[in-house]
Amino acid sequence: MERKIKIGLIGLGTVGSGVFKTLKAFPDIEVTKIAVKNINKKRNIEGLDESILTDNPYEVVNDPEIDIVAELIGGIDPAYDLIVNAIKKGKHIVTANKELLAKKGEDLFNIASEYNKVILYEAAIAGGIPLIMPIKTILAGNKINKIKAILNGTTNYILTKMDVQGASYQDVLDEAQKLGYAETDPTGDVEGFDAAYKITTLATIAFKKRIKFENVYREGITNIRPEDMKAANEMGYKIKLIAFAQIDDNGKADVRVHPMLVPKSKTLAHIDYVTNAVTLSGHPVGDVTLSGPGAGEFPTASSVVGDILSIASEFGKTDYMLPMMRCNHSESAQMLDITETENKYYLSITANNKIGVIGRIGKACEENNISLASIVQKEFGSKNCADITVITELAKEKDMRKVIDIFNRDDSIISVNSLIRVQI
Ligand code: HSE
Repeated sequence: MERKIKIGLIGLGTVGSGVFKTLKAFPDIEVTKIAVKNINKKRNIEGLDESILTDNPYEVVNDPEIDIVAELIGGIDPAYDLIVNAIKKGKHIVTANKELLAKKGEDLFNIASEYNKVILYEAAIAGGIPLIMPIKTILAGNKINKIKAILNGTTNYILTKMDVQGASYQDVLDEAQKLGYAETDPTGDVEGFDAAYKITTLATIAFKKRIKFENVYREGITNIRPEDMKAANEMGYKIKLIAFAQIDDNGKADVRVHPMLVPKSKTLAHIDYVTNAVTLSGHPVGDVTLSGPGAGEFPTASSVVGDILSIASEFGKTDYMLPMMRCNHSESAQMLDITETENKYYLSITANNKIGVIGRIGKACEENNISLASIVQKEFGSKNCADITVITELAKEKDMRKVIDIFNRDDSIISVNSLIRVQI
């Protein structure tokens, strides 16, 4: 009988438990050691022999019997050091760690290559949605030049609820936290960090050029108001937190995460609650959209286990495993700064009831090369001020920022409430 492939897990939280339970269906694979934070915690995982638990993750990394280490704890410290040590001890790596890949991916892949080991990370981008393996294998013949994606379930849940209930961001967040859909400290999700980590790695793979996380522009959803949701709906849009990446023919990349008005005619407008979706545009394939569960115990386990089985299936057959899945780019992409981009914009303004306000708005836009696609003013209410909603045509971000400055200094304008980019 062939030797079983031995797996060490680092982390037995939601994802780790799902991986352990899923792997039980594979008789050739054996989980032989699991590192946990608290060894005394009561666990109710069927078939788990608690004698394989340790609270020292280096016992997993240093165990000479273990072939593959699955790192499922997240964060940089100690995950980075554990993975580096595991590679040096001859182990292949499977990880779901989006932050680590975005910030330290280049380093880790160089070390893996030096030691002839592979690092697979299907679970790190969109949980259960297969993306990395399809891009690296069956889509390998494509030049992918654009990605539009919803990569964060928490924010998509909040925005969907705001849309459906007409509720404020804060009320929906409070409810989501009570139900356990949002973290106690939601910063990583609601400020767009999580989606930014994911698009950094995804764009790197798709464009075959390294994207630097620090050059990825990021805005979260905390300033989105129910009034914006309503106005967007009336104009034929939904508001979504979009992870966007584009590379031009000269190899200049534009990678960013921010809210966007998405036309209701587009697929991403209809991806609701915690579902994630990714549209890849490439030649010769055209547009491909993949959608599904972006997080959760079993969807994430699906990707981690798939990676483990891919590595396990080649054990003993080759000394250079999974060549197509390895890091095959060394060049960093030149990046476009957000101020150099061109976008359509949605703008919400509250203005005094004064003669010529609409004219002043139009003039400021005209003087800064911005053409207006639509402008809507509702009849004045009791406060004698007006809510004005503007959608521009394609305009330079630099010019739009100048116009916002002008509005902020204009006495007849009470406030610029929102500026949200519009997906084309
Ligand atoms: N926090 C993420 C989300 C899931 O809300 O989608 C893990 O990446």
